[in-house]
Amino acid sequence: MEFSFDNYFVRQMELKDLQNIVSNAKDPEIANNNMVVKKYNTLAKAKKYIEKMQDKEATATGYELVIEDQEHNFVGVLSLHHMDYKKGTGYIGYWLTKSNWGKGIATKALKHLLPFAFDYLGLKKIYAKTLISNTKSQGVLERAGFKVIGKSGKAPEEYYFYELNCK
Ligand SMILES: CC(C)(COP(=O)(O)OP(=O)(O)OC[C@H]1O[C@@H](n2cnc3c(N)ncnc32)[C@H](O)[C@@H]1OP(=O)(O)O)[C@@H](O)C(=O)NCCC(=O)NCCS
Repeated sequence: MEFSFDNYFVRQMELKDLQNIVSNAKDPEIANNNMVVKKYNTLAKAKKYIEKMQDKEATATGYELVIEDQEHNFVGVLSLHHMDYKKGTGYIGYWLTKSNWGKGIATKALKHLLPFAFDYLGLKKIYAKTLISNTKSQGVLERAGFKVIGKSGKAPEEYYFYELNCK
């Protein structure tokens, strides 16, 4: 799965991304907000994770995509996972290296992934979960059209659940 927007290219995660995954997984501002990358803070764990996600992409059961800039610098990650094709649902996630915050990249990448999820994979509903304290992530979801459908947990681990329905 690959696509491009503006001057960015989005492609499947590969073993060459290992170092970037691990160094960002050790950054609390990223790891404390993204429950997935948090777990992959060693080269061994990140390698297993990349290989597992490559298998998932091969069976259309999960997509872990890397956003690169024009010079092939690693910009961040966009995920579509936990698909349930019977229910027509899936979850999205994302994170960017800190030098890429504030440029609209996550919003645009997410908006470009949605037609793939709805029109190509046939999903009917996409969910996202974000800490209530994570206003930047809420901004991404709301700019892409997601709506809050509920809350769970207790502060500081309190989350909003968002959903977006296929039009
Ligand atoms: C969540 C995260 C990806 C959001 O990053 P972000 O840069 O705020 O989001 P976007 O890339 O969509 O950029 C939006 C920002 O760029 C600005 N922007 C500039 N040009 C823009 C454009 N063309 N379109 C949209 N926004 C634009 C917006 O005003 C906004 O800035 P603001 O936060 O000052 O209002 C980032 O904070 C992150 O990686 N956090 C750690 C991990 C995480 O929280 N992941 C999500 C878990 S649910």
